[in-house]
Amino acid sequence: MSTLTLTNVSYTYRGAKKPAVSNVNCSFEPGRLYAIIGPSGSGKSTLLSMMAGLDLPTEGTIAFDGQSIADMDLDRYRRECIAMIFQMFHLFPLLTVLENVCYPMELCGVKPADAKPHAERLLKSVGITKSR
Ligand SMILES: Nc1ncnc2c1ncn2[C@@H]1O[C@H](COP(=O)(O)OP(=O)(O)OP(=O)(O)O)[C@@H](O)[C@H]1O
Ligand SMILES: [Mg+2]
Repeated sequence: MSTLTLTNVSYTYRGAKKPAVSNVNCSFEPGRLYAIIGPSGSGKSTLLSMMAGLDLPTEGTIAFDGQSIADMDLDRYRRECIAMIFQMFHLFPLLTVLENVCYPMELCGVKPADAKPHAERLLKSVGITKSR
């Protein structure tokens, strides 16, 4: 488990007159739940996109376990260090819930026989169990 630290993080979309996210400083500790709340257009999705490594801040730094993600291989960061569930889930519709959770693990080289019980544990921890 790792800490994600945001330092003076801002993001200005190209051509925009003012930043969508302005000077955010916070730290996300392992094992805790956080909620980012704010009105529509206040920058929640923009902030989450940067935390997920889909985009980099136009100012400031995001560090994963002390290392700036700007200095990391972002493909690896997205694959192995962070996960994002979108408002539109983008699940694979032809796979089961369990298979959707197993798939990214298998992309990282986890054997299907190991991925399945781990995925079952993760799903159970959020109250999703087999109905039959
Ligand atoms: N691709 C984009 N190009 C330019 N401006 C954008 C883009 N995406 C978002 N914005 C602008 O950035 C600001 C923050 O938008 P963002 O989508 O991050 O807000 P939000 O808090 O997630 O809103 P919602 O609650 O509606 O999901 C808004 O002013 C929005 O119009
Ligand atoms: Mg949003």
